[in-house]
Order: sequence, then structure tokens, then C-alpha cells
Amino acid sequence: MSEPTIIEQRKADHIRVCWKEDVEAGYDPWADISLVHDALTDVDADNVDCSVELYGRRLSTPIIIAAMTGGTDEARRINRDLAALAQELGLGMGLGSQRIMVEQPDTTRTFEVRDVAPDILLLGNLGLVQFVAGWGAKEALKAVEGIGADALCVHLNPAHEMTQPEGDRAFKGGEAALARLCTDLEVPVVAKETGCGISRETAARLAEAGVAGIDVGGVGGTSWVAVEHYRDTGNRLAETFWRWGLPTPISVAEVRSACDLPVIATGGVRTGIDVIKSLRLGATAVGVALPVLRAYMDGGVDGARSYLTTLIAETRAAMLLCGASSRVELMDRPLVLTGRTREWLEQRT
Ligand SMILES: Cc1cc2nc3c(=O)[nH]c(=O)nc-3n(C[C@H](O)[C@H](O)[C@H](O)COP(=O)(O)O)c2cc1C
Repeated sequence: MSEPTIIEQRKADHIRVCWKEDVEAGYDPWADISLVHDALTDVDADNVDCSVELYGRRLSTPIIIAAMTGGTDEARRINRDLAALAQELGLGMGLGSQRIMVEQPDTTRTFEVRDVAPDILLLGNLGLVQFVAGWGAKEALKAVEGIGADALCVHLNPAHEMTQPEGDRAFKGGEAALARLCTDLEVPVVAKETGCGISRETAARLAEAGVAGIDVGGVGGTSWVAVEHYRDTGNRLAETFWRWGLPTPISVAEVRSACDLPVIATGGVRTGIDVIKSLRLGATAVGVALPVLRAYMDGGVDGARSYLTTLIAETRAAMLLCGASSRVELMDRPLVLTGRTREWLEQRT
């Protein structure tokens, strides 16, 4: 077998570190937010409908298995197993960064899932730094068409790059590059943070650039900066910026206050109560990565299925316990904000 390339090695490191190490923010970003229980709920469990249509696909529960991997044989197995589960459960799925696929087309097979998941919302993934460095619609189209994606997530990850020893350092021109891509690519482009959140101001600039949605990728779940800490123990920069950014619920509220685009709440969504809090704050859907990966690595397909079916059951139960049978009704139900989250949102939205 040939030696793994640097990107292949990095992908394998990411899976191992996220599975085994403590890579989360270390606090519950949802703690300051409460849904109000309705003891006299007027909803039958069978009538709870939290489905949503996004980029031409229907999600029976608004949950997306967030972008994780691709590029290696192990990644192929993970992508295909999780995509088949998404198909079975009516969920969406994001693929990991396809930079390796554009640069080494023989790795396309590690991202191919359409044959096992013909109907799911499938999101492609490339990094904005690549477009700053000169990529355009041609490369984006290769990524999207090669796998039959419904939309392309463009990840914005300056904190991750800055704390990664081999990370990119050139971000100037990103906004213009994104605007060009949104004009030239006939597929919806979703701007996606990977753990530091999107502010109101950034959301307004993204909307102006022409994106078709925003995945807030906020603080509270997997910290990419933390992942770099474990890959390079002793990296002071990574320790300092471990919890840098906007917590996920705050970011959802900020982005919602700035634009009407679909918002995906990713970063620390762990239970169905977190899902319903996200929707109540204005998210269209949520993304979940780490718990799915860990359930899969520990228990295979059955482990991931068990985690996801529980997450779906919790989501439906939380909606019913708020007295709502639909997403529209949910938006009329009370939400209580306390502590730091309340102080922040009073100043900022
Ligand atoms: C192993 C792993 C690999 C990831 N790779 C990518 C990636 O290639 N592109 C991307 O946009 N996000 C990537 N992410 C970030 C996730 O999509 C998600 O935004 C982040 O993990 C926060 O969600 P969580 O708290 O549920 O894990 C990755 C996450 C994990 C755990």
C-alpha cells in the first residue's frame, strides 16, 4: 500500500481525535434557554409534524448529519453507512471537505453515497480558503456533480486554520470570492462555520454575497481548535482559542435577526430538546456531528441508528410537551432566556 498523503493522514487523525479525546467546548450552550412545559398539551403524538423542505428535499425530522469525512477507505465506509441511515430515517447529510476529491479525483469513490441514499438532502463541502486561493465554479461543480449534491457548503474556518500548524493564512478577498461563486454556481451555496459561530454582521455580509443559507457552526460542541490541540499537544494558540466565538443558540438568534435565509444550527446539538430550542430560536434545521460519529465508532450502524432514532423521538416529544403539533405553532410557544445568553441577546439583537 502507498504511504498516506498529508491530507489523508489529517483526515484519519481527525476521526481518531474526535472519537477518543475531549474535543468539546466543555459547557452546555443551551443552559440559559428554556422551553415552557404545557401540561395540558392538545397534541396527539402521531400528529406531531416537524418536517421541513430544504433545497428541494424533504426532511421528516429537521436533522442533518453534519459534514465529517471523505478521502480514505475508512471515510468511505462511514459516509456510506451514515448516508444509508439518513435515507432510512428521512434525515439530511453533509459530506466532509471535498478538497481532496477535486485535487485527487480517484478519491471520488470515498464521497459517493447517492446509490445508497437516493432521496436525502445531500450537502457537498469545500473551504472558502480554496476559493480565495483561486478556485471557482469549475472546481465547485466538480465537487457537486461528482456526488449528486443538492447544495454546496462552503466552510469558513479562520480560527481552525490559524491554530493548525499547516493551516492556511490568507483570508483577504473571501467575501468577493464567495460572491463570485454564488453568482457562477447554479447550485445553492451554504456558508458554514465549523465551531466559532456566525455573527449578525457576518450574516448580513453573507446574505449580500448571495448565499442560500447559513450553517452557524457555533461554540458549544466540537471545537476544531481543540482538535488541533490534541494533534499537536502544547499548541498554546489552540488552548487560548478553544472556546472562541459565538455559542450556537446565540449565533442562531443573531443570524435570524440579520436575514431571512434558511439557518442550520450546528454545534453542540445533543438532544431533541436542543433541536426544538434551535427551531424556536429560528433555525430551519440542525446539524449533528460528534455524537453520531462516536455512536458509529463505538457501535457501528446499530449504534448510530440507536442514537439518531432516540434524537428523533426526543425532538417529537419536546415539540408535543411545548403544546405544538407543527413548527408554525411552536413559534408561538414561550421561550425563556436567562443569564449570559439573555444579556448578550439584549445587547445584540
Ligand atoms: C470528525 C469530524 C470531521 C469534520 N470535518 C468537517 C469538514 O470536513 N468540513 C466541515 O465543514 N465541517 C467538518 N466538521 C464539523 C462538523 O460538520 C460540525 O460543524 C461540528 O463538528 C459541530 O457539530 P457537533 O458539535 O455536533 O460535532 C467535522 C466534524 C467532525 C467531528
